[in-house]
Amino acid sequence: MKVAIVGCGMLGYDLVRTFLDKKDVELFCYDNKITGDILGKKIYNLDITNANQTYETLTKLNPDTIILTSSITDVDFCEENSDLAYRVNTIGVKNVAIAAQKFDSLLVYLSTDYVFDGKKGKEYTEFDLCCPLNVYGETKLQGENFVRQILNRYLIIRTSWMFGKNRKNYISYWYTCVSKGQKPIIVDGQVGSPTYSKDLAQNICYLIKENKIGLYNVTNLEGTDRLTVFKEMCKIIGVEFNIKNICLKPANDVFKKAVRPMDTRLDNFIWKLEDLPKIRSWKDAIRDYIFYDLK
Ligand SMILES: NC(=O)c1ccc[n+]([C@@H]2O[C@H](COP(=O)([O-])OP(=O)(O)OC[C@H]3O[C@@H](n4cnc5c(N)ncnc54)[C@H](OP(=O)(O)O)[C@@H]3O)[C@@H](O)[C@H]2O)c1
Repeated sequence: MKVAIVGCGMLGYDLVRTFLDKKDVELFCYDNKITGDILGKKIYNLDITNANQTYETLTKLNPDTIILTSSITDVDFCEENSDLAYRVNTIGVKNVAIAAQKFDSLLVYLSTDYVFDGKKGKEYTEFDLCCPLNVYGETKLQGENFVRQILNRYLIIRTSWMFGKNRKNYISYWYTCVSKGQKPIIVDGQVGSPTYSKDLAQNICYLIKENKIGLYNVTNLEGTDRLTVFKEMCKIIGVEFNIKNICLKPANDVFKKAVRPMDTRLDNFIWKLEDLPKIRSWKDAIRDYIFYDLK
């Protein structure tokens, strides 16, 4: 089976790590800026905003599966560069979907909890209506819509609050602050579903192997707030939590450019309805991340 991973950032790295082990998989990696290799796999140049390059590259390869993680994920940057955000996060997805259509490749598209406004007051299932509050969420939702319009065989996977080896993230930031004796900024009251990119990559691999299609929420369990995650990190690394050593700030003070939804916990509802293997808790996942990928 030929698998193309488009986007070699945080999740892309763990997808490579996961698929490298699979003997029946021939792996090809693409990104627009990152060059060189990832775990020994060469990264080829591909800018998904370039329709011709995307079509020619992907149809020439003719992969069985394309996993599209490429995105502008900086939420504030998207707010201030809205055209560019649509170009990458929406039109780029359309370009990849058109290439996938030619040979009926399975397209796995990564989407986000930010398609929701965070006002539900409990976990979002795959059946809830979307209502993004910011440009990033809107561009990702319109990316989803192109996938649905163009393809029959697709997986849309919504995830949230990712942490992993191949990029700075909220846990690596807190860890660095605590290690250096600095006060980390923690957003007060924001709730979500922390997700380890290594677990997500393995779960994506599982869905592909089981020939699943359609929309799935995929996160570690259960939803929680930022401060609870920070306290758990302190416990794991053996540092006593002290409120005086952190800077707990309201969201309005931290997020000046793009509004954030305040409660985007995702319920892996379809995953559970289909009796797929239980996904571990974010606490277990963070422990694993800290000991094996962060330190
Ligand atoms: N991180 C999270 O907390 C989170 C939460 C929910 C959903 N997601 C979704 O999950 C997916 C993976 O996230 P991630 O954190 O792994 O993202 P990431 O680390 O930012 O990786 C995304 C990759 O896409 C590349 N890219 C940007 N523009 C491109 C273009 N025009 N053509 C080709 N590649 C391009 C980026 O390259 P450059 O950086 O060099 O431009 C980067 O390597 C994304 O679709 C994201 O929306 C992420």
